[in-house]
Amino acid sequence: MTTAINTKIKPEDNIAKGAPVIVIEHLFKRFGKNVVLKDFNLTVHGEENVVVLGKSGAGKSVLIKCIIGLLKPDSGKILVFGENVPGMNPDELDKVRTKIGFLFQANALYDSMTVRENLEFPLRRHWIDLSQKQVDQMVSEALENVGLKNTGDMMPSELSGGMLKRIALARTLILKPEVILYDEPTTGLDPVTSREIDRLILTLQKKYHTSSIVISHDMNCVKNIADRVILLLDGVCYADGTYEELEQSGDEKIKQFFEQ
Ligand SMILES: Nc1ncnc2c1ncn2[C@@H]1O[C@H](COP(=O)(O)OP(=O)(O)O)[C@@H](O)[C@H]1O
Ligand SMILES: [Mg+2]
Repeated sequence: MTTAINTKIKPEDNIAKGAPVIVIEHLFKRFGKNVVLKDFNLTVHGEENVVVLGKSGAGKSVLIKCIIGLLKPDSGKILVFGENVPGMNPDELDKVRTKIGFLFQANALYDSMTVRENLEFPLRRHWIDLSQKQVDQMVSEALENVGLKNTGDMMPSELSGGMLKRIALARTLILKPEVILYDEPTTGLDPVTSREIDRLILTLQKKYHTSSIVISHDMNCVKNIADRVILLLDGVCYADGTYEELEQSGDEKIKQFFEQ
C-alpha cells in the first residue's frame, strides 16, 4: 500500500547533533542453529558515522537488515528515533524507511528503468502528493549531488560501477533520510573510485546532517569515514572506539583488521 507521508523538505527537522538516533539493545537473531547476533548492543548518535567491521559471514548485513525491518530479530529492541522497528506493522515500516535510507551492496537499481525513473520510484511510492515539477526538481538535485547531472535518460547498463553506486546513493538520498545504512559501499570498485565514493558520502553527510552506519572492510574507507568503529565478532559488539584507538589495540582479534 502506498501512503502519503510528508512532503516537508528536510533537513530542518533533523535530530539534534549528538542525540541518540538508533539504539540497539540485546539483539538476538538466529537462522536455525546458526546464531548470528547474540546480545548485540549499539547506539548511534546524531550526525555520527559508525563503521561496522567484521569478517565475512559475521552478521553485518543481517544487522542492518534488522534495523530497516527487512529481517525480524528473535528478540531485542531496535529503537529508531525512539520507535521500536521489530514491533512495527507494514505501514509503520514504510514510514520509518523514509527516515532510514539503505544503500544495498548490489545497488538494487531497476535495470529496465532509466536513471530518472529509478530516482522517481521512491518519491512516487512514499510521497504521492508531490507535483511533477517537485519530482523533477528533486531528481535534478539528487543527480547534481552525486555529480551526474546529465545521466537521467541513461539506462543502468550504460553506467560504470562507480556511476551506478552514485545513482544508488542519489536514490537513497532523494527522500532526505536522517540515517543512512551503507552495505559495503566501495566493494568491487577500483581504489580511485572508492575514494571518490568516500568523499561523496562525507560531503553529503555534512550537507544533510545525516547519521550513518557503514559496513566496510576497506580500511581506507573506514579511516576516511568513521567517527567510530565497532567490531562485530561472535554476535556481539566486540570493540568500540575511534579508528586510532582500534588500530593501536593489542588485541589479536582487533589487530587482524588493521594488518591487511
Ligand atoms: N536469510 C537468511 N537465511 C538464512 N541464513 C542467513 C540469511 N541471511 C544471512 N544468513 C546467515 O547469517 C550469517 C551472517 O550473514 P551476513 O550478515 O550476510 O554476513 P556479513 O557479515 O558477511 O554481511 C551467515 O552465516 C549467513 O549465511
Ligand atoms: Mg554482508
